[in-house]
Amino acid sequence: MSERRPPRSSAHELERYAGLFASRTRVMRSSAMRDLMAVTVRPEVISLAGGLPDTSTFDPALFKELMERIPSAAALQYGPSEGLLGVREAIVSVMAAEHMAVDPDEVIVTTGGQQAIDLVTKTLVDPRDVVIAEAPTYPGAVPTFCAYEADVIQIDVDSDGMRIDALEETLAALDAAGRRPKFIYTIPNFQNPAGVTMSLERRRRLVAIARERELIVLEDNPYGMLRYEGDELPTLRSLEAPGPTDENDFVIYTGTMSKILSPGVRVGWLVAPRPLLAKLILGKQSTDLCSSTLAQHFVAEYFASGDWQPYVASLCELYHRRRDVILDALAENLPAAATWTRPQGGLFIWVTLPDFIGTTDLLARALAENVAFVPGEAAYADGRGQHAMRLNFSSSADDDIREGVRRIGKIVAEQVALYDTLTGRSRGGPAAAGGERSAGADAPAAPEAALAAEPPGGERLASVLHLPRRGALGGQRSREA
Ligand SMILES: Cc1ncc(COP(=O)(O)O)c(C=O)c1O
Repeated sequence: MSERRPPRSSAHELERYAGLFASRTRVMRSSAMRDLMAVTVRPEVISLAGGLPDTSTFDPALFKELMERIPSAAALQYGPSEGLLGVREAIVSVMAAEHMAVDPDEVIVTTGGQQAIDLVTKTLVDPRDVVIAEAPTYPGAVPTFCAYEADVIQIDVDSDGMRIDALEETLAALDAAGRRPKFIYTIPNFQNPAGVTMSLERRRRLVAIARERELIVLEDNPYGMLRYEGDELPTLRSLEAPGPTDENDFVIYTGTMSKILSPGVRVGWLVAPRPLLAKLILGKQSTDLCSSTLAQHFVAEYFASGDWQPYVASLCELYHRRRDVILDALAENLPAAATWTRPQGGLFIWVTLPDFIGTTDLLARALAENVAFVPGEAAYADGRGQHAMRLNFSSSADDDIREGVRRIGKIVAEQVALYDTLTGRSRGGPAAAGGERSAGADAPAAPEAALAAEPPGGERLASVLHLPRRGALGGQRSREA
């Protein structure tokens, strides 16, 4: 029998491997949502954290029927790196529904939209290259840009999406420094995490800038079809290439089945200017050869089985109602100093709290109350976002949304009361009577507006109100009625 080795300390373990790690691992960041998933799968936790669609709405009988129709030998085989033709044709029909004319051979099927972001970054970005993103941006994109050692510059959004005036200033400053961004990453519709939508005027201006400066724009559009209010706006891709014969030179478009069908199938896509396609495919081959053939057959069967748009319409109806539920709950439970966005579609609301409350620390308190959100810092590469949080309203039942927001309201109120006691000032105030305090046109322009403001006197009370970190909470969890 072999002798058991004595247990080693984790510090020793890390030291042992330290010399092996590639230098890029120093700047790798974990994904806030993936970290949270371990906690939020617990049934007692109300999760307003994930970006999950409500998959319980998909008809189980249809699911079974589709699975039975999948041709087993082909589905169990490798497939082409660019994806099955049936899936690329389905993608063409989804894009046509958003008024984009593309050819199946311009489409690369990816393993979720996440892989599309990864492939574009892998293909275009060398260490220290500039990538421009929105502030805040999709929390899942931040670890990707960091993993390829990009210098991420984030441009504030307001209720009309990315501030193009600020973008132009940044581009001019980069020009002066002899730097040129590799691409501009934007989520024009119901942005993750802020829920805001880029105005038509800004879309036009952004496409014009891309053309004038010959800059690539990566347009990420997982939520465009989930509009439940307001008028549809053209995608950047359709503004750049309105007709089937128009050349698309500067927009790389990415979409996903995750929010209109299922994130479990992990099927997304890229449509890129033709000269980029071959390199993007090489990038994909070295990552995974091809996306799951089994999952692609499921998607192809689903789209071949008939009309998919009524299902998307039913999701819109459901999320519309849940958005209204969360807006009412926020107005009822958050203090007057808090603001939030009012999305016209999609899955997220961005809440900005008074500037003495740090949401990363607040999350530890929230988890003790069995409720979760994504702290704002996850949406920044540079440590901003400390006073903001992303809330999801698509994947919880109405009563859970109300209860989750009530719990968040309670812990925020505790922080406000503590601040008032410590400072003798009143910053939070009681909840406003009715009506949301949107960071919309009449409210603070940017969801991040509060971030710019230091507490009076310049002192930062976040450290005074420092809360125990998650690891220190053992056994404290309680279940509320
Ligand atoms: C803006 C954005 N891009 C990409 C993704 C990744 O989607 P997928 O599940 O298709 O990988 C998400 C997922 O939430 C997202 O919100």
